[in-house]
Amino acid sequence: MTTVGIDAVEIRTGNLKLDLPETFAPEKGEDPEKYTKGLGLHASSFPDVYEDIVTMGANAAKRLMDRKGLEPDDIGRIDVATESAFDHSKPASTYIAGCLEDVYEGDFHHANKGERKFACVAGTQAVDDAVNWIQAGKNRGRAALVIATDTALYERGDSGEATQGAGAVAMLIDEDPSLTSVDPVQGFGSADETDFLKPNQQFPSVDGKRSMQVYLARMREALQDVESQRDLHPDDFAVVPFHIPFPGMVRKGAALGFRHISRGTDVEEELAEEIGMQPRREDFEDDEAFRDALTEYTDDLTGTDRYREWYDRTVEPTLGISRHVGNWYTGSVHLARASALKEAREGGRDLDDAEMMVCSYGSGAQAEIHIETVQPGWEEEIAQLNVDEQLRARKDITFAEYEQIHEVHNYDETTDIDAFTTPEEEFVFDGWGRMGERKYTYVE
Ligand code: CAA
Repeated sequence: MTTVGIDAVEIRTGNLKLDLPETFAPEKGEDPEKYTKGLGLHASSFPDVYEDIVTMGANAAKRLMDRKGLEPDDIGRIDVATESAFDHSKPASTYIAGCLEDVYEGDFHHANKGERKFACVAGTQAVDDAVNWIQAGKNRGRAALVIATDTALYERGDSGEATQGAGAVAMLIDEDPSLTSVDPVQGFGSADETDFLKPNQQFPSVDGKRSMQVYLARMREALQDVESQRDLHPDDFAVVPFHIPFPGMVRKGAALGFRHISRGTDVEEELAEEIGMQPRREDFEDDEAFRDALTEYTDDLTGTDRYREWYDRTVEPTLGISRHVGNWYTGSVHLARASALKEAREGGRDLDDAEMMVCSYGSGAQAEIHIETVQPGWEEEIAQLNVDEQLRARKDITFAEYEQIHEVHNYDETTDIDAFTTPEEEFVFDGWGRMGERKYTYVE
């Protein structure tokens, strides 16, 4: 079978930054360490007045196309994954293609365009669709563009307000990829849940604490589904990217994952002297007693050197970018992959042919876990990212400015303020058209 996977990646952050410990925490009367240590977040990215899911997605895609020397004819498919769509019919991919057609010769008239929705897991679903399209031999030598783009805003005062973010990740899916191949093993954990949803409303209804339990429950199911296809061992994987609503959530997901896949292995035996064997359901009278024992075991596990070494090597490097940008919903797990590869390159770590276990999640709810293999060529590709420059260039906003920008992006308000930054060499939102459509232009 042809090797298919992620050939290139680009990251585009919103142009504003809200400092959580310095600016947000004091206004909320909270300890800054709740953000830096508890949630694991230092800052959130926000879109300036002229930015939205289309501009961020188009800007990421343009840099990717320029860098890879691509023309519209080279692309046979454009899928946008988002949970921040502003149109119930016309997909954001048509807007993004329209933007790109303004700056390239040629057009995307023969490319299949769509929009994928399943909360944050939709970005991974769009990658899967693109891989399948190529594996099926329908691509006629062309590649697919997958763009995960979101403005992850919560209602003011909602508990999720601390985890907001805005940005896009564009990925080129192609044969003989430079970054990672997407391997066929894939597991799902999926159930009808109401942990986080937007029933015809812009900002989500969120049951924050329950959403964390649902994340873990679906992740466990997806792991079981993968295990029905192949054996898993913690040392199989060099990198384990998770969906990152906030890094503190990944801390919990990683502990569950390690506990689960080390059960019945030499690792469980090795740890038994220090913390005992893992609790087994048959040794307990009821579910509650079993769950309490599991919680206690997991707490002990995360204190062991064996676990810490595994976490620091496979999970911690995935969190580097997210700590400074917040939740990007559909893009988050793809930021995690990019962050780990970037840190590996900077640290001189050899990842050629190493396996990754990629753990995606979308509320509502579905977890998907699949395996990727890092391709020789990944270092050269990942070296092209300019995310550090972008993060440094963001304007650090005050709390009053944050309040204004939140209102600007609230569909129920009409707030007209000047932009905080000056756009340069990027697509910008440029007002409304006759049919209520959003209009865009490229600023030199
Ligand atoms: N120093 C160190 N740590 C501190 C601290 C301090 N001063 N103060 C608090 N903390 C810790 C807490 O102990 C807690 O950690 P543990 O869970 O490990 O105990 C952590 O910081 C967060 O504190 P709280 O639980 O008090 O925070 P909260 O109640 O204000 O909000 C939340 C947490 C419910 C997750 C909220 O951020 C939220 O609603 N977020 C949106 C929903 C979400 O992200 N859910 C995640 C799963 S769903 C998903 O993944 C999809 C998605 O993208 C939305």
